[in-house]
Amino acid sequence: MDENIVILDFGSQYTQLIARRVREQKVYCEIVPYTISIEALKARRPMGLILSGGPSSVYDRDAPLPDKNIFNQNIPVLGICYGLQVIGMLLGGQVTGAERREYGHAACHVDDDRDLFNGLSSPMDVWMSHGDHVTSLPEGFISLAHTENAPKAAVANREKRIYGIQFHPEVVHTPRGRDILFNFLYGICGCTGTWTPEHFVESTIKKIRSQAGKGKILCALSGGVDSAVTAVLIHRAVGEQLIPVFVDNGLLRKDEVREVRDSFKDLNLVFVDASREFLSDLKGVVDPEIKRKRIGHRFIRVFEKEARNHRPVDFLAQGTLYPDVIESMSVWGPSATIKSHHNVGGLPEKMKLRLIEPLRELFKDEVREVGRVLDIDAEIMNRHPFPGPGLAVRIPGKVTPERLSILREADARFTEELKAAGWYSRVWQALTVLLPVQSVGVMGDERTYDYVIALRAVTSEDGMTADWAHLPPDLLSTVSNRIINEVRGVNRVVYDISSKPPSTIEWE
Ligand code: XMP
Repeated sequence: MDENIVILDFGSQYTQLIARRVREQKVYCEIVPYTISIEALKARRPMGLILSGGPSSVYDRDAPLPDKNIFNQNIPVLGICYGLQVIGMLLGGQVTGAERREYGHAACHVDDDRDLFNGLSSPMDVWMSHGDHVTSLPEGFISLAHTENAPKAAVANREKRIYGIQFHPEVVHTPRGRDILFNFLYGICGCTGTWTPEHFVESTIKKIRSQAGKGKILCALSGGVDSAVTAVLIHRAVGEQLIPVFVDNGLLRKDEVREVRDSFKDLNLVFVDASREFLSDLKGVVDPEIKRKRIGHRFIRVFEKEARNHRPVDFLAQGTLYPDVIESMSVWGPSATIKSHHNVGGLPEKMKLRLIEPLRELFKDEVREVGRVLDIDAEIMNRHPFPGPGLAVRIPGKVTPERLSILREADARFTEELKAAGWYSRVWQALTVLLPVQSVGVMGDERTYDYVIALRAVTSEDGMTADWAHLPPDLLSTVSNRIINEVRGVNRVVYDISSKPPSTIEWE
């Protein structure tokens, strides 16, 4: 079995970040709810455990606490923030509520640099965010570091290989946090760093072969990063058993159909032009949720037909990523889905297809690395996310062929200029929205009464939160001039300066 670190999640907003930091150091790691049983934990054969932070106090009535026996398995443990307090409390120390929450930068003085802090200079900047702290250590523990407000900012029981730190090594505000995690993973747990994209590709291909046998696998290819990597991996594994279907729903961007067909011609794409059906389903529809539902239903019908055409199909491949998996098994319950992200959701049950999800273990940036190892077109790999319902959710109000064509032209110019200015790769996502209002303008001697285009560009780590990108005014000005001069039907361009939350990235 591969090297594996298990993170017990106590609900910290940073838990996924810890996992990413561990994987960046080439060590595979998974997140499990803190309620995991000892048997399930042992079955994973972890080389180390990390107890995440969390919003609770160990003295809360419903404080999340793990099975105390996790400390008797001869597995190294690192508790972070709340995780440290869990260690303090369950092993017989004393945890006390601080008078005030400590939040922000602190200088951490290392008093013992033998293992966790090996090679690190003192004092170092660390990021604190906690209410309680450990005031008296459990038996067998010593203090390794202190800050002004936390005399026991890092603690250890070397014999049992249990460590705890009060601050967050996973955030950028703890600049040497990576080194601390490195010391834990390589020095204390004995990891050697086997988790690489090449290794992932090799082991996943084997897994797909054994899962699929001789069965046929239907895969919806959208041209986005996740579905591209999914399809290429499966193709490498089982070749012609893959049936990659690319549907033109009439809601794609300019030249997208040609680009996707070109990029994936080696996969024997099944191309379906269903644009007329999709657009007719959307006729007169204004409500964004109804748009999504109609589009979702039509996708299902198109895929049902393809599954029948290629009978018998046994599997449906999906590009599900690790954050979706974590979300669905979280002990805190899935966070409220604010928009229904229907793509081909209902298909597997209806068609009695089994799912193949080769990217279930990956974060988005890891998917991109795997794509590079698979030699997928850089243009495809570096693309911004694009929603399944496409341009339909970028036209508030009715979706018409005329509006789609205006939006496509405007979008193409925005993208072109972002690329030319080197900004495309610096933003998470950039898009244009056609506002269904007309505003007055002048062009030459004539008065115009045309549509407004809103530009939206955001920076983000994962799409869950986002900030509007501070694009240079000159760039915005070029984009605006080009759209107004070159795209008929538009006489005004505005820039969206809202962040998420409270806004969302898309307008619908
Ligand atoms: P919002 O607008 O919710 O978007 O901030 C977050 C991310 O999700 C994408 N998005 C969708 N993707 N089907 C999809 O496949 C959808 O219905 C959908 N709606 C939003 C959006 O582009 C952004 O990357």
